[in-house]
Amino acid sequence: MDNDLFVIARALHVTGVVIWIGGVSFVTTVLIPNLRKISDPENRLNAFESIERRFAMQAKFVTLVTGLSGFYMLHFLGAWERYQYVQFWWLHLMTFVWIVFTIVLFVLEPLVLHRWFRKQATKDSENAFVWLHRMHKVLLTFSMLAILGAVAGAHGF
Ligand code: HEM
Repeated sequence: MDNDLFVIARALHVTGVVIWIGGVSFVTTVLIPNLRKISDPENRLNAFESIERRFAMQAKFVTLVTGLSGFYMLHFLGAWERYQYVQFWWLHLMTFVWIVFTIVLFVLEPLVLHRWFRKQATKDSENAFVWLHRMHKVLLTFSMLAILGAVAGAHGF
């Protein structure tokens, strides 16, 4: 029974990661580059906000699922001490990525980032979108490394 729960947690964890980081990859490699081609700054900002708002709702939900299932797996495996060893760098990286997204989605975005980005994009749209693209590229790179490391690490590499 416990083992079934563990297997279900792993399935939910990976499904959450696919939806979440797949979405980040789409936003970074398809959506933002295309938005940058829209010449009218007002249209560009409105398009970004309406698309990203829908994805942010999904991302919040899957972040919760991924975090809960991840901590449950650590508890089941009795593996909290892995945080003490550098060979589990992929666990540190997964947790780091999760913490960054959780803070951005649940705290920074609603409290400051949304307003701040709107202000920057109204002042200098080109620059604001270059910055936005850069931040997404950094987060996507860390997320991809975490996925590569986690699958290899969880399967004995
Ligand atoms: C609070 C945050 C997280 C915790 C506590 C956590 C914990 C875990 C644990 C315990 C495992 C199983 C390791 C094993 O079988 O030895 C795992 C697997 C995995 N995690 Fe996470 N994780 C977290 C966030 C993330 C994030 C943000 C990503 C993606 C960027 C991610 C991607 C993966 C992947 C791809 C696997 C491998 C699944 C497999 O091949 O079996 N995790 N995670």
